[in-house]
Amino acid sequence: MKHVPVLLSETIDLLNLKTGANVIDCTLGDAGHSEVMLEKISPNGKLLGIDADPESVLRAKQYLYRFGEKAEFVRDNFLNLKKIVTEEKFGPVNAILFDLGWSTPQFQERGRGFSFEVDEPLDMRFSGGQSNAELQTAAQIINDYSESELTKIFKQYGEEKFADLIAKEIVVARKKSRIEKTKELTEIILGVYREKLHSDKEVPWIGGIHPATKIFQALRIETNKELEVLKKVLPDAIDLLAPGGRLAVITFHSLEDRIVKHLFMKNISRVKIITRKPVVAGEKELAINQRARSAKLRVVEKI
Ligand SMILES: C[S@@+](CC[C@H](N)C(=O)[O-])C[C@H]1O[C@@H](n2cnc3c(N)ncnc32)[C@H](O)[C@@H]1O
Repeated sequence: MKHVPVLLSETIDLLNLKTGANVIDCTLGDAGHSEVMLEKISPNGKLLGIDADPESVLRAKQYLYRFGEKAEFVRDNFLNLKKIVTEEKFGPVNAILFDLGWSTPQFQERGRGFSFEVDEPLDMRFSGGQSNAELQTAAQIINDYSESELTKIFKQYGEEKFADLIAKEIVVARKKSRIEKTKELTEIILGVYREKLHSDKEVPWIGGIHPATKIFQALRIETNKELEVLKKVLPDAIDLLAPGGRLAVITFHSLEDRIVKHLFMKNISRVKIITRKPVVAGEKELAINQRARSAKLRVVEKI
């Protein structure tokens, strides 16, 4: 299933793209944003598209085929943005986009263990392991972190109220055998919730939310070091922009949004804030795209 881009028209409008501009999409995914950016900057503008996931790059190449050499592709972590731009001799840079997190096909089809709804190996690396030897898989984290380290990431990155109990049960379970698959982890989480909520339901939903949601989010953030990477790359992105160039960041949870807001303010001497408050999805988009519910867009312009 193709990824449906979130806040598409808002992002494109706020990036203020002109024909002939050079733009970077740091999170290609299924190229939904890239495609419209390329239409705006055609016929002479260029797009540099980056994604850590080799399959996303392959898919994006197909979706953007008609733009020929106006679109360049790099499979890498956007942590290396500056190095990539130097190596590709790309510039001057007029716009940069980050649309964070996972894409729909990654979540539903890649077998990476992002979803608790299918039984898959607990990998969760966006790169699927391609030249990201330094990143541990989610299974390594689950099996090798101490109980207190697990509690900490579940609390910090998932705001999970039963963080300590779930960490404890993970440690008990992994003594019997390593936890390698999503279903094994999901069962442990469900067990804790059933006991705490005195429920005999197979899935004790909490206000329409699956009890494993927060733990899976926390684990994905830790696996990909998402917050550290974001903190490092945003100042680099501002450095790279030409005067008048714009940076747009779409986040999906409050931890990311806080980092973006803070880093924009920290760089206030060299950027103008374009979005005083984060832009969120309107009713029409919310009705057709669940993922838009938590999306927040912030934009700055380089002075
Ligand atoms: C939400 S999707 C982007 C969707 C895209 N805007 C579209 O319209 O189809 C996020 C993409 O960013 C990639 N990604 C996430 N973190 C990354 C990182 N640190 N470096 C490179 N790519 C990353 C993921 O692999 C995923 O393909």
